[in-house]
Amino acid sequence: MTAPRVIHRADELAELIAGWKNAGDTIALIPTMGALHDGHLALVSRGRAECSRVVVSVFVNPLQFGVGEDFDRYPRTLGHDVQALDNLGVDVVFAPDVTDVYPDWPDTKPTIFAGPVGDTYEGQDRPGHFDGVLTVVSKLFDLVGCDKAVFGQKDAQQVFLVSQMAGHRARPVSISVVDTVRDTDGLALSSRNFYLSDTDRDSATALHRALVQVSGSLDGLPDGARREDVEAILASAEDDIRQDRRTLHYLDVVHRDTFMPFRGGGSAGVVVIVACSVGGVRLIDALDVTISGGTAQGGA
Ligand code: PAF
Repeated sequence: MTAPRVIHRADELAELIAGWKNAGDTIALIPTMGALHDGHLALVSRGRAECSRVVVSVFVNPLQFGVGEDFDRYPRTLGHDVQALDNLGVDVVFAPDVTDVYPDWPDTKPTIFAGPVGDTYEGQDRPGHFDGVLTVVSKLFDLVGCDKAVFGQKDAQQVFLVSQMAGHRARPVSISVVDTVRDTDGLALSSRNFYLSDTDRDSATALHRALVQVSGSLDGLPDGARREDVEAILASAEDDIRQDRRTLHYLDVVHRDTFMPFRGGGSAGVVVIVACSVGGVRLIDALDVTISGGTAQGGA
């Protein structure tokens, strides 16, 4: 295996992709905003296992950042990213200029809308965020002509909305979801961890602890439990999060197949989701849980 080829221009990529298609290759896309870490490398390895060609896109998408968010200071580390992908079987790193993705930039507006689920949780605090995500992901699907795209489970709401969008396309793209990669103390790997001071980095382990605590308590819920029971479980974990310079944005249990709040009842596939700012850095995490007849089994 060798170093990936770095392509900046959409027309150069299109020419290469046409050759791959003629040769009968299948293409996996790993969409990223760069600042790659082991979590991204796990996505690459899934793409490599499922398709004959792998494209990693590196593009900090201005459409998904709101006013006052971290678009300007988001880490841009293309040289390091390309090196990190050396010898992993990645064919191309596609790092386009903004006008290759949005020819009408800076007048570009979102063209794909996330709908009601896009206004909840991350979307409630970051209005328009998911419209920006879906617009760029759909553009990247078109530019790369991929058969599959691989995403990380940590961004559970993004996974839900992208899967919905991908399934509705004229030429559907199949979505693979990879378990969250964590440090040994449970902290989910994220490019935004780069912003954390050492103290805040330790404090950020509270997100995963809360997910595990909630997942463990869901375990004890009897069949027929009600939303009040779920809320009591959440309230106790929320108290722990709201300490040590941490600001809780949300902690909830949602149905995996609708992203609507879990109201209790019987067996269900759910996701425990959390967003919390630590020292001013907004972090999210999620844990997949299957509740079956009063027992819950946690995922990564
Ligand atoms: O998860 C991300 O890094 C971004 O939201 C994505 C999917 C690359 C779109 O810009």
